[in-house]
Amino acid sequence: MSKFKIKGPCKLHGEIRVSGAKNAALKILPASILADTPSTITNIPDITDVRKMIEILESIGAKIEFDGEKAIVDPRGVNSYTPDDKLMKQLRGSIVLIGPLLAKFAKASFSQPGGCLIGARPIDDHLDIFAQMGVKVSETEDKYFLKGKPRASKIILNKMSVTATENAIMASVLSPGKTHIHVAAAEPEIADLAKFLNSMGAKIEGAGTHDITIEGVNKLYGSTHEIIPDRIEAGTFLILGLATDSRLKIGPIVSNHLSLVLHKLEKAGAKFKIFIKDGKEYIETLRQKGFNAIDIDTRTYPGFPTDLQSPMVVLLTQAKGESNIFETIFEGRFLYIDELQMMGANIEIISPHKVTIKGATLLKGKEIYSRDLRGGAALVIAGLIASGNTTINGLDYIDRGYEKIDEKLKNIGADIRRIEE
Ligand code: EPZ
Repeated sequence: MSKFKIKGPCKLHGEIRVSGAKNAALKILPASILADTPSTITNIPDITDVRKMIEILESIGAKIEFDGEKAIVDPRGVNSYTPDDKLMKQLRGSIVLIGPLLAKFAKASFSQPGGCLIGARPIDDHLDIFAQMGVKVSETEDKYFLKGKPRASKIILNKMSVTATENAIMASVLSPGKTHIHVAAAEPEIADLAKFLNSMGAKIEGAGTHDITIEGVNKLYGSTHEIIPDRIEAGTFLILGLATDSRLKIGPIVSNHLSLVLHKLEKAGAKFKIFIKDGKEYIETLRQKGFNAIDIDTRTYPGFPTDLQSPMVVLLTQAKGESNIFETIFEGRFLYIDELQMMGANIEIISPHKVTIKGATLLKGKEIYSRDLRGGAALVIAGLIASGNTTINGLDYIDRGYEKIDEKLKNIGADIRRIEE
């Protein structure tokens, strides 16, 4: 198992690039099989989740050339509605393949998708939307069999699930008639997916709001698309710059995708400024005079993103006073807290959804373990703040969502080494 060796505390300086959004790329790649001709997608992050999604698409016959940033997807060889089970299990995001398969074949059979340990992560909401569209759903102990062309319908989601919203959109773009999706999730990655689908000839309105309408069309044609910047990676690097009191330039970003994150950071005393370079937004961290405690509750967009909860907790260990964190989305998203406590953080776990942080505390370097993607990134930030050596085991999780994070950090002065074992 490979590991990071970090020597902290680190003062960082320079510019750190934000890659394309993982949670947009993982939907736009499967969406391209809905077209009859090839698509070209750029600004794709070179991360293991993307490479796994490409393998899954190739397992059903797609031809994909990926150079680490640009992918050319030729869907003309897609001839199967049963994606590779082993691969599906390795990637939670693979659930969004089902909508396109149903739209294309009126059939799909698959096993329970995988994912990280942040919660049960059931797929009942996905099966429910397909059933609302008239698809017949049957299951054995670990396989699902879906049959029937999705019908244009009025769909009401059980909750504002991101991938269930994306599945509803992709299942209905080729269904004749008007589909309404109510209680839709409104994340920016969903709007980016809809922008790509509309460029292929789909007729989607309202993506990025909680009410989406889709006019089904007969055919979709390959298109070109540039993935939006990853707002979670941007927020992670912003918190890193603030927590290490560094002068960092981070971008490109879309500040509008981070409105509440920026607002909360300002309430905590963070100093930063947004500037434009080559027509794109960047953010620069400024000298800090310490932080004050704040409360955070994670919500669906435009609420505070659950994927930035763990980096924010690390920052709040450096804030004076008591901060309360209410994680409303997942029930297993505090796995990293034990490691932070070992490093000296004063955090009390009140319930699987609530922790209280008392700061500011000095963090000391330790040997720790990353158990999920975003928690792992938070522990990297902790290692860069802590005094002494920190070893982080379990890099597979971090590499799933952060492109070459150690190289990006070394370029801004971090003392971080990847040890392959
Ligand atoms: C997406 O996951 C993201 N993943 C997650 O990012 C993100 O944390 C999450 O949305 C919330 O913003 C991708 O887009 C690939 P949900 P998703 O369905 O769609 C429950 C990362 O680190 N639920 O919005 O799977 C679920 O258990 C990842 O990049 C059901 O109960 O999340 C959770 O409690 C982590 N039944 C809540 O809804 C279902 O059928 C929200 O989940 C589906 C979800």
